[in-house]
Amino acid sequence: MPTSYLIPCHVAIVMDGNGRWARKRFMPRFFGHKHGVETLVRTVLACADRGIQYLTVFAFSSENWRRPQDEVSGLMNLVLMAVSKYLGRLETQGVRIHIVGDRSQVSQRVREAWHEAESSTQHNTRIHLSVAFNYGGRWDVVQACQQAMRAGIEADQLDEAALNRYMAMSHVPDPDLFIRTGGEERVSNFLLWQIAYSELYFSDCLWPEFDDAQLDAALAAYASRERRYGALKQEEPPAALLPQVGS
Ligand code: IPE
Ligand code: IPE
Ligand code: MG
Repeated sequence: MPTSYLIPCHVAIVMDGNGRWARKRFMPRFFGHKHGVETLVRTVLACADRGIQYLTVFAFSSENWRRPQDEVSGLMNLVLMAVSKYLGRLETQGVRIHIVGDRSQVSQRVREAWHEAESSTQHNTRIHLSVAFNYGGRWDVVQACQQAMRAGIEADQLDEAALNRYMAMSHVPDPDLFIRTGGEERVSNFLLWQIAYSELYFSDCLWPEFDDAQLDAALAAYASRERRYGALKQEEPPAALLPQVGS
């Protein structure tokens, strides 16, 4: 188990590539999604073992409703199957589950499964798993503004910290490391507001194949990055020693 890495506090993952993984095996896309859930459970526990405190995963985007009806209903049923199959294990392993996204469009049965996952793990503290489901980064910004307006926040009271309190991810710090599997190098409307200074890591690995070695490669890449947040590099000489502009 690696101990020398600078471990990120919060990792966010776009779990992409389930369909292609299944197609390579001449199987229906649902087969890939089912294996994707197993990979997720393995990854949550691997992250917990490495001391990562927060893991946020993109499970269903606001735009995934555009997929064929049978794939969408398969994914909704998979929520119910996943909760009944894996919730007990996650609960005993100290995983706290949060669901983020617009619940108003999902069925009562899915809402009940989410409620069960959240309430039965609410006392756990080992790792926080936030599952983004029917989530979109733009939806999040809009719903946060709506909540702030409904709360009567005046325009001049609204700053970044005030708006952040209404964002769906206000219960966790911003992601340090943003991983996308599946080979596409785009954000696809995941956490837009929260990834302002996240380190981005793209992998060609299809999500069902993501394993400990892939996770450790992403963590090693993260550990080698220098985060500056707009400031100068640590070893940069003080400004007084630099040539003056115009001199
Ligand atoms: C990601 O895998 C899972 C969801 C979007 C639900 P995809 O289903 O997008 O798989 P590919 O990208 O088509 O291979
Ligand atoms: C992003 O993957 C959404 C999830 C992984 C849940 P998509 O497969 O939907 O993204 P695009 O369509 O390739 O941008
Ligand atoms: Mg995809």
